[in-house]
Amino acid sequence: MIPQKTVTEILETAKIEEVVQDFVNLKRRGVNMIGLCPFHHEKTPSFTVSPTKNLFKCFGCGKGGDPARFIMEHENLAFPEALKYLARKYRIEIKEIELTPEAVAQQQAEESLYIVNEFARQFYQDQLFTTDVGRSVGLNYFKERGFREETIKKFGLGFAPKDGAVFTEKATKTGYKLDYLKKLGLTSRYDKDFFRNRVMFTIHNLSGKPIAFAGRIMEKDVKAPKYINSPETEIYTKSKILYGTYLAKKAIRQLDECILVEGYTDVISLHQAGIENVVASSGTSLTEGQISLIKRFTPNIKILYDGDPAGVKAALRGLDMVLEKDMNVKVVLIPDKEDPDSYLQKVGATAFQEFIDQKAQDFILFKTNLLLSEVKGDPVKKAGLVRDIVDSIARVPDPFKRSFYVKECARVMELEEEVLVTETNKAVKQILQKRQFDRQKQEGTQINIVPEDGEGSATPDVEVLPPQPGRQRTTGHEFQERDIARILVAAGGEMYDEKEGISVAEYILSNIEEVLEDFDNAMYQRIARECLQLLTNNEKISPQYFISHKEQEISSLAVDLLYSPYEYSPGWEERDLYLSSQKMPDENFTKDSVSSLMNFKLRKIIRLCEKNQQRLKEVQATDDGTQLMRLLKVQARLNEIRNDLAKQLGTVVLK
Ligand code: CTP
Ligand code: MN
Repeated sequence: MIPQKTVTEILETAKIEEVVQDFVNLKRRGVNMIGLCPFHHEKTPSFTVSPTKNLFKCFGCGKGGDPARFIMEHENLAFPEALKYLARKYRIEIKEIELTPEAVAQQQAEESLYIVNEFARQFYQDQLFTTDVGRSVGLNYFKERGFREETIKKFGLGFAPKDGAVFTEKATKTGYKLDYLKKLGLTSRYDKDFFRNRVMFTIHNLSGKPIAFAGRIMEKDVKAPKYINSPETEIYTKSKILYGTYLAKKAIRQLDECILVEGYTDVISLHQAGIENVVASSGTSLTEGQISLIKRFTPNIKILYDGDPAGVKAALRGLDMVLEKDMNVKVVLIPDKEDPDSYLQKVGATAFQEFIDQKAQDFILFKTNLLLSEVKGDPVKKAGLVRDIVDSIARVPDPFKRSFYVKECARVMELEEEVLVTETNKAVKQILQKRQFDRQKQEGTQINIVPEDGEGSATPDVEVLPPQPGRQRTTGHEFQERDIARILVAAGGEMYDEKEGISVAEYILSNIEEVLEDFDNAMYQRIARECLQLLTNNEKISPQYFISHKEQEISSLAVDLLYSPYEYSPGWEERDLYLSSQKMPDENFTKDSVSSLMNFKLRKIIRLCEKNQQRLKEVQATDDGTQLMRLLKVQARLNEIRNDLAKQLGTVVLK
């Protein structure tokens, strides 16, 4: 582990513009620098670097953060590795602190597994290239399939000999423990080689280390399974990897698209033909872990299916999950009972590329067409089809995309758009309720699906149509909450009252602690709670703490907050006036926090006033005298507080 002191040193030394400039061309633009975003494809630059804030932010794709975040995203490294990268760049020495004995043992065990696998990979490769039988059987097999030697080496292909225990004996003689060989599935229970007389495929992790193997039989039409695979181990979890990612990740990022195929050989063939943004699910249906993996590189996925439409239809079920993750899914059917590998070899690289470009169809439309071709005018079946399609559309999180699909699918199915809108809205509500239910069940809180009042944050925007331009999506209080969160992140650790030794965060939180529950926006509330926690633990509140927060959601919100100090509610003119008459709000956090707080409170009070008035109306209708008096008193008191706040705010605002 890297000591905290060194972590801080690295984060304080690394300069965002220097780190980014190793990868991106930057031009000065005022106090900032701009360039083409390395994380998504763009022609006009929306990627900005702020040397003063030591942050980057892309206004196109939304990625942003500090130097460590940039390296994590760009080089696809975990936080500690990114720190090591920066330490090397800035020549900062890292003296790792001692891990617990268990952690050391764990790390060493994992390291040993990689080392043994690397030995095995080398062994299978040597067998393939340097033994007679390897060359005549294995290498010949690959060459007949059209794989060139450089490709074979790049993908770590090999050959496992026929005889009982050639590998196991060599490995134990070299000093590798039998335990490890067995654990990795290289050696069978009876101390024989597990992979025998097969051509070998190495499976790599994201950093290119060998984590598992697959062995393919070479004869056709034998009873034995076509592939046998390594078992799962500490270093290999099948559901979390996709074959070929290590070699594909760069191209996926550059092209902003990932092509998904089924087989190892499909990946290798396409890669060799210059289509490098390709990975394989290895014959199983896509898992959530695999989708997340792709999403780290791109939201766009193109799936190449081979096989008949019936088989494809079964596969489509699993894809709704991908929609939920807000990914754009396209589908291509490979024709004539071919798979991507064989079809490519048949028609050549250019024709293949053209084919998949041309035939790629949006997943939902593809599904609609496919299912529609089956119902052929049968009204009962068609109704079932509507439910099926609506269920897919409802999973798309983006309401604008949903409304596009509703239009298109209505057209394709020759249905009234209204029908589809109503059905989709119902399905969206169901999904949201289910999600809320699951979440609350998980948190063990009270289940309350229908919010008490109409403006609660529990009902997200579920309508599909029509998109109304300029419609207010926030509940009205979020701007104030955002402002408070912004001040907490930007200046929470600063002194509010030097003499009394009160920090900005202490001042703000002591004032809003009792209304913390009432935040409309859960993320801003999280920031406030987190600050409270830091104060309780006597820990430092700093922008850096939030920027390098382990939860990505928080760290990117922090970056947003730091980047946009001037975003205020459209209806908040006084605020704008106040700001434009001041220099930098960041330097004015004291005044800033006072007025933010008051605005925040004012909003909450106004809301209480409104609620109380509503109840007054109800009670007036019932003739309940005592109740009426009580509510009137409350109203008077609330108005008092409101006017008081407004007055104070007036003086602060207009000074
Ligand atoms: N697969 C497997 N075990 C099997 C069969 C298949 O693990 N017994 C996985 C492999 O990852 C394989 C993928 O499913 O790559 C797709 O299967 P298939 O299309 O049969 O294999 P290909 O890789 O296309 O092999 P080939 O082109 O050599 O027939
Ligand atoms: Mn194949």
